[in-house]
Amino acid sequence: MPTLETTVNGLKFPNPFVIGSGPPSTNATIMNKAFAAGWGGVVAKTTALSDTPVVNVQPRYGKLRSPKKDNVGFQNIELISDLPFEDWEDYFKKVKDTHPDRILIGSIMESFDKGRWQEVASRSFDAGCDALELNFSCPHGHPERGMGAAMGQDPERVETVTRWVTEVANGRPIWSKMTPNITDITAPSRAALAGGADGVSAINTILACIGINLKTLKPQPTVEGHSTYGGYSYYAVKPIALRMVAEIARSLPELTISGIGGVTCAKDAIEHMLVGAHTVQSCTGPMLQGFGMVEELIEGTLAFMEQHGFETLDDFRGASLPFFTTHHHLVELQAEKKRLRAEKLAQKDTEWGKGDVRDETAALTSNE
Ligand SMILES: Cc1cc2nc3c(=O)[nH]c(=O)nc-3n(C[C@H](O)[C@H](O)[C@H](O)COP(=O)(O)O)c2cc1C
Repeated sequence: MPTLETTVNGLKFPNPFVIGSGPPSTNATIMNKAFAAGWGGVVAKTTALSDTPVVNVQPRYGKLRSPKKDNVGFQNIELISDLPFEDWEDYFKKVKDTHPDRILIGSIMESFDKGRWQEVASRSFDAGCDALELNFSCPHGHPERGMGAAMGQDPERVETVTRWVTEVANGRPIWSKMTPNITDITAPSRAALAGGADGVSAINTILACIGINLKTLKPQPTVEGHSTYGGYSYYAVKPIALRMVAEIARSLPELTISGIGGVTCAKDAIEHMLVGAHTVQSCTGPMLQGFGMVEELIEGTLAFMEQHGFETLDDFRGASLPFFTTHHHLVELQAEKKRLRAEKLAQKDTEWGKGDVRDETAALTSNE
């Protein structure tokens, strides 16, 4: 029988399915609900020290629907948690007390200040977090304070801040969460590794405009007649997420990866693991489909493993990576295939003319 149990950076997950930081992890009640439903881990909603101003707007979500009206994409302009950090310390304790066997990962974001990062990290660990995710990636929140993606787009800062946090982590795992709003996601990932991170989480949301209301001509979500670019997520971002996870896995095998982006079902999660993810997060998935989606994630992944004879996740993690190459190499591979085919055809007189006669001639020419 295959097993979904997996140990990542010393953390024992009953299964690799983790709630991504956001509304499905925004207080103790909802995190406990996620664990009760069967999720192996939860990344809490991002928090910061209590004097960080967080003022959310309403509405703050928008949906992209296919012509058949299915939800395919989602956009938010939500900030990090608006609750005082002291509340989060209570939540972490409560959740860990209720589910000691599950993996609770705190998510923190701060301004570029060593004391603040180290305080929020130490207090999160003291309150019971098993690991921490460093939010270097929120695309719309607090750029004026150099937080989130504004920090994640600067590899030097990613390295420095990751080092500050690892200094107080006492060996407990640190995952730096990457922004996709950058040309080369391996640059900040490499910086995180240099700063001592055990892993990276990728990807956060993609800066986007979800649509325009054709009656009012206003971009959405519309707040008092205006809007701002927001973070795009859900099924439509999966292809971009898979590419970025693969890029990190191929160039930085020393890092573990928590794959995020567009996970709606077992197939999506398996694809993330095939390109190198050790755990797989979903945030918009549970928001639109409910926590119960984890049942299909578990059943579908086990069925896939049985079908292929895989016993553990290690047996297929990254299995698709060797098949990525350059376009130039694809052209070379095809030319080689054509040459071999012509050579085979040219060996028998009866086969002549089945391919291009010029190729068949070339295949039998010694000085071609
Ligand atoms: C409404 C909403 C709020 C989010 N808030 C946070 C957050 O506070 N911190 C964070 O690191 N990521 C946050 N995210 C990003 C998700 O954790 C995740 O990286 C992203 O949505 C892509 O995954 P998905 O397609 O499974 O949603 C948020 C996403 C959504 C949709």
